[in-house]
Amino acid sequence: MVVETVVVAIWAMLPAYIPNNVAVLAGGGRPIDDGRTLDDGRRVLGDGKTWRGTAVGTAAGVAVALVLNRLHPFVSGVVVADPFPIAAAVSLAFGAMLGDIAASFLKRRTGLERGAAFPGIDQLDFVAGALLSTAVVATGWFLDTFTLPVVVAIVVLTPLLHVLTNALAYAVGLKDEPW
Ligand code: CTP
Ligand code: MG
Repeated sequence: MVVETVVVAIWAMLPAYIPNNVAVLAGGGRPIDDGRTLDDGRRVLGDGKTWRGTAVGTAAGVAVALVLNRLHPFVSGVVVADPFPIAAAVSLAFGAMLGDIAASFLKRRTGLERGAAFPGIDQLDFVAGALLSTAVVATGWFLDTFTLPVVVAIVVLTPLLHVLTNALAYAVGLKDEPW
């Protein structure tokens, strides 16, 4: 039961976990805010949110969902979840990126420079973005998949996975900060 819940949590969130990690690899080029600042004198989003990172990250998340759908027939005994509808694939990936972008907006408004840590928010911004947008665009699949125990598992496990992968990305020199 617990194992089943954890397996569904990780499986269903993989298309949301991948985008931000791929954005680290693919990021660069023109920032989304084009260098603009708001009245507070701070950047709207900052140089850490780029068009390329967002586009490639989203595409990677969608691709992961499509691959998982291909694998689904072979693991349906283990993963008790329906395949990803295309709307869910897109909203998990793009919603994750939007959540991260929204967090950068908040960070800049609270005076945190690009790359500064925002404990708690850094680990869950993309979860909130992915879940909220999927609840809106793929409601039926969302309710079937993200049961309360699955959501609890996601909220508990994601920060751990996030801290681990970012520490790893930092250790091998892919990321400038370990968060
Ligand atoms: N990245 C990107 N586009 C995004 C998200 C991330 O290009 N939408 C890339 C950027 O190169 C960024 C890196 O991935 O520097 C790490 O992402 P993140 O930690 O989210 O950004 P930070 O640079 O820490 O900036 P912020 O303080 O705004 O989070
Ligand atoms: Mg960061």
